[in-house]
Parts: sequence; C-alpha cells; structure tokens
Amino acid sequence: MKYIEAGNYEEMSRIAADMIAEQISGKPDCVLGLATGSTPVGTYKELIRRYEAGKLDFSKVRSVNLDEYIGLDGTNDQSYRYFMDHNLFDHVNIDKKNTNVPNGKAADPVKEGARYDELVASLGGTDIQILGIGHDGHIGFNEPDDVFYAATHEVELDDMTIDANARFFESRDKVPTKAITMGMWAIMQAKKIILIASGPDKKEIVDKFMHGPVTPRVPASILQCHRDVTVIYSPNK
Ligand code: PGA
Repeated sequence: MKYIEAGNYEEMSRIAADMIAEQISGKPDCVLGLATGSTPVGTYKELIRRYEAGKLDFSKVRSVNLDEYIGLDGTNDQSYRYFMDHNLFDHVNIDKKNTNVPNGKAADPVKEGARYDELVASLGGTDIQILGIGHDGHIGFNEPDDVFYAATHEVELDDMTIDANARFFESRDKVPTKAITMGMWAIMQAKKIILIASGPDKKEIVDKFMHGPVTPRVPASILQCHRDVTVIYSPNK
C-alpha cells in the first residue's frame, strides 16, 4: 500500500481529486466507485471546481456507490442517493442515468444485493474506488464480523457507527439501524483504490488496518491484499 500524509484536509482532498481527475481524463467513460460521509466532501468540491473551470468532463462517466441506508429512498435528505446528488452529481455534467446507488427501499435486500453485484460486473468493475474508513475499521458498511462478506448484502449497523452518524440526524433514534453495502468482492475488484481519512481520531485505525493482521474484525485490513491502494491521511479534519 502506498501511504501519503497530507498537510491538511484540503491537501488530502486535492491529492484524491488529482487521482480521480487523471482517471477521468485518461478514460472518459471510466467507472468511479464513490463513497459518502464527511471525508470525501472536499474531494467532490475539488472535482466540481475543476469541472466548472472546464478541466473535467463527466458526460461519459459511470458510477457505483458503496452503500445506502435501508428504508430511505432518494428523496430523503439523509439517504446516500440524496447526498451524492447534492454533493457531486447536481454540480457536474454526469448523466444521472449512469449513476448507481443500492436501493434502500428494495423489497428483498438479497435480490437487490445480487442485482447490484451483477451491475458492477456488467460495468467491468470499477476503475477507481474511493473509500472512507469508520473508527471500527469499516469500509462501506462492512462492519467488524467473524467473516468477510463477498456479496453486496444487508447489515446491522454497529453502535459505534450509529453514534458517529447521529450527527447528521435530528436525534440518535432517527439513524437507520440497517444498511445495504457492497461486500468485499465489489470493493476488491477495483483496479485502483484510494482510501482517505482525516483527523487525529482516525490515526489509530489507519495504522491498524495498514499494519495489523488481515482480519474481518478490522474490515479495511483486507485492502492489504489489493495490489493498488493509496491511503491519503490528513492529521486534521
Ligand atoms: P466519515 O465516515 O467520512 O463521515 O468519517 C467514514 C466512514 O464511516 O466510512
């Protein structure tokens, strides 16, 4: 794994945006694997800035997102579809038909998981996958467990994840307790992976997933088995 320590959050975002921009310029119809959360917001702002400056064209770009809360549809302002529209898609010339987020309202999450993995496969996999990391080491919503799950699947969110995400909701009891997330197959088939993390609170988990044992108790540790991962860490948020 390649490790870059950025001077601050803005620099972390710029480096990640550089890598994504290079991907889009080199392959205009590339498949981006996208993430939600507060960490990638600066990266998306930087991509929007470059689009507005006429330096990036998203017209042929396809995208797949990592996860979605179960029970929320795209009109809910806490859904990840809404997040993506507001933080990136509505501000660039991407065709929304080419953007994909798991359906949190699917009647059968198992079928939805299979549909999503088939979709990722039919796109030829992602060219570049952007990831954040949870304090418990989750990527997407793959929470610490006894095993790594390969398929896109339904998960119960950890208390730690619910606590962390409560800041986006009116109160903690409004945070959905379940989500649907890409599993390790869809994440690991990416040709290139960028993991971004910021703040002193993420330092310990970054060290642990990069240098500790590969274990489903630290889901991000599986990235040690991928051939092209860049970790960009900023000590401040
Ligand atoms: P954050 O979330 O970017 O809001 O810290 C990261 C994650 O939980 O994957």
